Amino acid sequence: MKYWKLAAALCASVALPSVATATDLEVTHWWTSGGEAAAVAEFAKAFDATGNHWVDGAIAGSGDVARPIIISRIMGGNPMGATQLNPGKDADDLVKAGLMLDLTDLATKDKWATTLRPKSQLDSCTYSGHVYCVPVNLHSAQWMWTNRKVFTDAGLTPPKDWNELIADAPALKAKGIMPLSIAEGWPVSLLVQDLAVAIAGVDNYVAAYKGRDLKVAGGPEWGKVFAAVDVARKLVDPKTVVPQWNEAVGLVIKGTAAANVMGDWAGGEFTVAKMVAGKDYDCLPGLGLEPVLNTGGDVFYFPKNADPKITEAQLKLAETLVAPDTQVAFNLKKGSLPIRADVDMSKASDCMKKGLEILDHGSKVYPSDSQMLDRDSLNQIRDIFNQFWADPSMSAADAQAKFVAVLKAAPPL
Ligand code: GAL
Repeated sequence: MKYWKLAAALCASVALPSVATATDLEVTHWWTSGGEAAAVAEFAKAFDATGNHWVDGAIAGSGDVARPIIISRIMGGNPMGATQLNPGKDADDLVKAGLMLDLTDLATKDKWATTLRPKSQLDSCTYSGHVYCVPVNLHSAQWMWTNRKVFTDAGLTPPKDWNELIADAPALKAKGIMPLSIAEGWPVSLLVQDLAVAIAGVDNYVAAYKGRDLKVAGGPEWGKVFAAVDVARKLVDPKTVVPQWNEAVGLVIKGTAAANVMGDWAGGEFTVAKMVAGKDYDCLPGLGLEPVLNTGGDVFYFPKNADPKITEAQLKLAETLVAPDTQVAFNLKKGSLPIRADVDMSKASDCMKKGLEILDHGSKVYPSDSQMLDRDSLNQIRDIFNQFWADPSMSAADAQAKFVAVLKAAPPL
């Protein structure tokens, strides 16, 4: 009889650990390519390790499809727990409507103002002195990606810049190789902007996009940009334009195309394909004409939620995304640069090391388009550039005039 009492007393004495229930947090993003999916899995793993649960809300079709869905869900009262967006103006209306969680206390506690760099990224998350998003990386848009074997098999030296690619185009075409692969939509706008930075220069690009300098935007330097786009659009067989950016990168990886112009998130695709930068492929910042870097990238916002457990999980996720180990694991797979300098990037690809060199030691770091212009104006410019790309009857002068008109009508920053 006495034994059961002893057993009962023993059971009672064992303090069961208080098992905190994991909080599910739905996280939306548009990272659905091979490299992007591998990277976002690192974020999910790090968040799950905190005892919470990342409920993946991937939206296929890149930012132009995902942004309207994300914004309308929050505006419509059906918010996710957290969402990726780009640094800039996209969430302005949501913040002004009081729908987004204020992260200022966390930012202050974790000293984001001194641990995260460059300052421009936290500035893009700050409204009226309060912080509403956490920057998680830096993605720059102005890279040319080339498949070395395609050029050597064609008896050519892999190009060191855009101009050499253009010069190689006839020989590549003679071998049945696409000189340039491209996807429709925002990738065409990215190419035009990269050519603007490479040909007209960073100052003239920023003068147009940020300064709304119509004389510059309509002037001879930008005229050279539209002339270069006219050359490029004649290089690419319209039948070879693909729907998604990662398909265009895939053509270079497979060797069907010789080169592609895309942001450094393309690096994640080469990593998944187990290709080595500087051996199998080359990555040329500023299209090889001038090494520059723009401060594009990704930030996470957290729609307000009445449930304090959700709020607690949101703050834990924000903190986890910029933790050193998470930053290394995520960015190595994403091909982006970490948002903090105090992490070990020795395993970074040569491309990422080129980016870090420009970022931390270069002089030409400039804002991304979404940090200079509202999304509606960017979408209008995207559509003009796509129309120019696809319609031979549209002249370079017509396209430039339409571009200037959008800048003229764009709302102030
Ligand atoms: C960008 C985003 C990158 C990359 C790219 C293509 O807007 O910042 O992370 O994924 O879209 O989807």
